[in-house]
Amino acid sequence: MAWFKHPRDIRVGVIGYGGAFNMGRQHLNEAQKAGMTPAVVCEIDPKRLEVARTDFPGIQTFDDVNRMLAQAPVDLVLHITPHNLHFPLALKCLKAGKHVVTEKPFVLTTAQCDKLIAQARRSRRMVSTYHNRHWDGWIRRAVDQVVRQKVIGEVLRINAWMGGYGMPREWWRSSKPISGGILYDWGVHLLDYSLQLLPGARLTEVSGFAHDGFWAGRMPRSHPRKNDCNEDDALVIARFDTGQMLELSVSSIRSYERPGTMEIVGTRGSYTFDFSSFRLNLPQHGKDARSGKPTNMLHSGPHWDSQGYRFYQNIADHLCGRADLIITPEWARRPIHILDLANQSARAGRAMKARYA
Ligand SMILES: NC(=O)c1ccc[n+]([C@@H]2O[C@H](COP(=O)([O-])OP(=O)(O)OC[C@H]3O[C@@H](n4cnc5c(N)ncnc54)[C@H](O)[C@@H]3O)[C@@H](O)[C@H]2O)c1
Repeated sequence: MAWFKHPRDIRVGVIGYGGAFNMGRQHLNEAQKAGMTPAVVCEIDPKRLEVARTDFPGIQTFDDVNRMLAQAPVDLVLHITPHNLHFPLALKCLKAGKHVVTEKPFVLTTAQCDKLIAQARRSRRMVSTYHNRHWDGWIRRAVDQVVRQKVIGEVLRINAWMGGYGMPREWWRSSKPISGGILYDWGVHLLDYSLQLLPGARLTEVSGFAHDGFWAGRMPRSHPRKNDCNEDDALVIARFDTGQMLELSVSSIRSYERPGTMEIVGTRGSYTFDFSSFRLNLPQHGKDARSGKPTNMLHSGPHWDSQGYRFYQNIADHLCGRADLIITPEWARRPIHILDLANQSARAGRAMKARYA
């Protein structure tokens, strides 16, 4: 379906123009580079609205989403707010007939994913999630080597991890009800990477484990996260119908530097990477010419370039009927379903079966 003739006809609005990483500016810059037209910023913090006006002179600004929807000429609304607001605000925008992009995570629960997907169908509008890291150089290279070229044979297992040791900061990201929990920030990126390495695999079951209370117990009473802090440490094990498995852990009490961010174990070797380089280990890859003994091959090197700008190029092309949507809401639902089941499993103390819409 083509909603627009030309990307410049797509008037873009942003909800949330926060200062933590200046993501509002990044989104509008990337949308503009993809040919679309920055039109509106809606933000409840007047100081940040001032920043938006400096970044994009002449842009229309609002401090209330309802007023923006009633008054602003906007076609596509980008949601760059704390995680718990993605669902209610995206639903409101879809009902108002706007196309929607949420920042990651898409939303917090599977039920919320399904409601947004259903509303987008009813409203005949697009909904997608800003998985800009889908095109990170390290995962682009890993997908090429592991999935296309099958250099490590059949993939058996993926381990992904993130974290360190330290008391959670006072910001909303450390609040379980607002953020979704310790797994929902970087964990969503790591799951997006992992699922690219498991094409065709259907999730069957998830086990989640979580520890909490350590940091909360040590926070002073004045710490705003004392009563709603994220878990200290969480682990997810996901099973797939292919027999493959995926383990994800994120921690604030991991007290050693574990090298790498992801390890992919295959029948013929393993591929690990961090944010600067990859290592490919192929045991018994060849034979030593003199002794005839099997030799190992170790190959390491830098990553490919990252191409996060392709996200908004695809959105513009899709809205103009020139391309299929790459980050479909069904794709964005996959990591959320794993995290939602992990939360339920950690509470219930047993594995949870996957559910498809
Ligand atoms: N993809 C990435 O690489 C990446 C990087 C950083 C952040 N993020 C994501 O971006 C989102 C926002 O994170 P952030 O770091 O920009 O947070 P932030 O706290 O800096 O910004 C959030 C902004 O939303 C505003 N806001 C809250 N409620 C609002 C409402 N009802 N109407 C209008 N504005 C409202 C706040 O005032 C704040 O300025 C999160 O989903 C986060 O995970 C993604």
